[in-house]
Amino acid sequence: MAVIMRALILLFLVFSVESAPAEEDCPYGWTPFGVKCYKFVSVSVDWVTAEKNCQSVDANLASVRSTIEHNFLLSLIVPPTTSAWVGGHDGEIDGQWLWSDGSQFDFTGWCSGEPNNYQGNPENCLLINFNNNHCWNDGQCSSAMSYICAKPLGA
Ligand code: BGC
Ligand code: CA
Repeated sequence: MAVIMRALILLFLVFSVESAPAEEDCPYGWTPFGVKCYKFVSVSVDWVTAEKNCQSVDANLASVRSTIEHNFLLSLIVPPTTSAWVGGHDGEIDGQWLWSDGSQFDFTGWCSGEPNNYQGNPENCLLINFNNNHCWNDGQCSSAMSYICAKPLGA
């Protein structure tokens, strides 16, 4: 009996360790890449709603810091022709772009002619996968778009 009990306890311990999410895992529905977890949300909302929705799950709209991260973000978008909000905004001073996650705005992928505050209208929010070149556009923050959230692994 004692042997069976010990075997059962051992089985239980092994099973708990194997099934417990490791700290480096992303939550269900999020995709790991580098040191972050990412989620494409296809529901279309304005930029502030998108950022707040990301914040409600301990994330921000994604920042885009490199070509490799940019290509990864594009790969998350379904269907692949959809534009998506990311965390860039220049509403404080026009032309001074910031990332909503506080990181440095040191990589860009603007489409030719962008950012342009099209036809004199303020376009203070950043969307990616804008046209066939999969490049960046400054859009009106009130526009409804899909979006991509990102958060550090383990958050
Ligand atoms: C968009 C602008 C963009 C322009 C480029 C418009 O439809 O609203 O943000 O700059 O297209 O041609
Ligand atoms: Ca524009």
